[in-house]
Amino acid sequence: MVRFKFEGRELEGREGDTIAAALHANGIKVLSHSRRHHRPRGFFCAIGQCSSCLMEVNGEPNVRVCIVPLEEGMDVKLQPATGGELKW
Ligand code: FES
Repeated sequence: MVRFKFEGRELEGREGDTIAAALHANGIKVLSHSRRHHRPRGFFCAIGQCSSCLMEVNGEPNVRVCIVPLEEGMDVKLQPATGGELKW
């Protein structure tokens, strides 16, 4: 098992899972919010091609958590809808 944090909560995920998969396995399905209306967003493409899963990981904003492997000790947070510059 891989231990990580989400919004300060200690969670566990399976080795080899993405961050988004580990969050889903822990019952967390809201990964971000839309810019204009702040509606909750979850998985959409799950292949790193949209912006539905942008989160802050270890202090870095705009990480597409659907394609980033979970690592021990990661600190994952929701971010404001306008999280800053996008990183591909
Ligand atoms: S769900 Fe589309 S980039 Fe992650």
